[in-house]
Amino acid sequence: MKRINIAIDGPAGAGKSTIARQVAEQLGFIYVDTGAMYRAVTWRVLQQGISPTDEAGVTEAARSMDLELRPGKDGQQVFVNGEDVTGHIRTPEINANVSDVAKVREVRELLVKMQQDMTRAKGVVMDGRDIGTHVIPDAEVKVFLTASPRVRAERRFLELKASQPDLTIDQLEQDIARRDQIDAEREFSPLVKAPDAVLVDSTSMTIPEVVDRILELCRVQAPGG
Ligand code: DC
Repeated sequence: MKRINIAIDGPAGAGKSTIARQVAEQLGFIYVDTGAMYRAVTWRVLQQGISPTDEAGVTEAARSMDLELRPGKDGQQVFVNGEDVTGHIRTPEINANVSDVAKVREVRELLVKMQQDMTRAKGVVMDGRDIGTHVIPDAEVKVFLTASPRVRAERRFLELKASQPDLTIDQLEQDIARRDQIDAEREFSPLVKAPDAVLVDSTSMTIPEVVDRILELCRVQAPGG
């Protein structure tokens, strides 16, 4: 297929990263998980003992760190100042603080610029919250992927129950609702569907069904490839 850019946005737990990774694999494109970049900044902020609500401190931490994404055999790997932090950015502590870090305008400007640089050569599947609206507004395919909060919490529960046996689905649902609210209400690039994005509600769809739906949208946008 011709190299195009694909933007996949949506709330926490809608399955964006699983879906985006599989779409990228099928097309031979590069997958970029932008949430991991906000998580890596949050990891650095916490590691430096900075409060996630201290905007000046958060901005300084983001500016002074070297952030690198590398494609690995099990998906994207994230490096901060040369250290592989991939295994440290999906903890409950990061989950609880990442939305505050992602609210800071300077952090967003810095990361959006890095993300835009990655899309110039095309052939990128990028997932996040503001990809279709701000990062690649001219993406050939834009998808807004969602699912009911309960189903999103159930999916997260299945992913996490082995490593965090004390978690409950109700707790996860509350956590998801809280993050949705902060992400949707923030001043800079809130989570919102781009007017030209295709809404895909995966509440009662399987992963292969969602992947096929997106591949079909790609074939329409880049026919004959
Ligand atoms: O997709 P995720 O759960 O890994 O995202 C983590 C947080 O980062 C989430 O609270 C919203 C924020 N985020 C964002 O504001 N913009 C993006 N493009 C990606 C993630």
